[in-house]
Amino acid sequence: MNGLRLRACAKINLGLEVLRKRDDGYHDINSLFIAIDLHDEISIQPADGIEVVCEPAVTDRPNDNLAARAAHTLGSLPSAHGQGAKITVAKQIPTGGGLGGGSSDAATTLVGLNRFWNFPADDVTLRTMAASLGSDVPFFLHPSVALVQGRGDAITRLDIDLPFVVVLVVPGIHVSTPWAYSTLGITGEQRATDLMRSLRQSIDDHHDMPRRFRNDFEPVVFAQHPVLSSIKQQLYEEGAVYASMSGSGSTMYGLYTDVDKARTAASAFGNMAVYICSPVNDSFVTSQ
Ligand code: C5P
Repeated sequence: MNGLRLRACAKINLGLEVLRKRDDGYHDINSLFIAIDLHDEISIQPADGIEVVCEPAVTDRPNDNLAARAAHTLGSLPSAHGQGAKITVAKQIPTGGGLGGGSSDAATTLVGLNRFWNFPADDVTLRTMAASLGSDVPFFLHPSVALVQGRGDAITRLDIDLPFVVVLVVPGIHVSTPWAYSTLGITGEQRATDLMRSLRQSIDDHHDMPRRFRNDFEPVVFAQHPVLSSIKQQLYEEGAVYASMSGSGSTMYGLYTDVDKARTAASAFGNMAVYICSPVNDSFVTSQ
């Protein structure tokens, strides 16, 4: 095989409930993950050893190096027969913003290299590797709309077209995920709401969405960064049917019912990075 190019897409969380702290130190969550068409590009070329290059260059944030860890983990399988590859990650997805960019790069690297090296790993091995790289990585093996539970590894994919245009507002604030979880200070247990039912209801009737979905990280992250609360309010003022933080932040998003409304809303955030996106499914992800 001469080479491969793949798209590693971002995600937003519609509803993010943190249910309980587990014995292994992680938390059980209940969330809808929605893959969107903002994406990094991963290219794989023949090479002797394994080399991973990020453009622009990686920072010291561990998640930015997940693609390299993914490549070395897959390459260490005996069935990979010591094959090499040069992997170039062209970054578009803002890092450290709750959009899953590092996790998506890692999952896409696993999927791409597995094909490039003629399938050293079966599906189960690939899923286990993905989960060992990070809680959000398994979702990105088959990005779509999915109910994500457990630590992030219990994934129920939904075959659904979402009638929303997504406006992302990226204020450039880095929120540490371990900090966000520990600041929640979860001691008890709360019941998961039925997010699939809420989603189905929301497609017929958008008006109740703010009541149906919540992101449990918003109170602690907004307390630290009040500007995020103002962005959320402004997204609503610009006509969003729903506005929220994604993941543990700091990216905020609004859902709009048509692209003109989304464009008008996007123009209201003059000095911040803003993206207008659409939900995507698996077929978007790979191109040869
Ligand atoms: O799995 P990942 O490395 O992305 O997680 C980063 C940190 O976020 C973990 O070390 C943990 O503190 C927290 N986390 C958690 N529960 C999850 C996912 C992440 O507590 N479901």
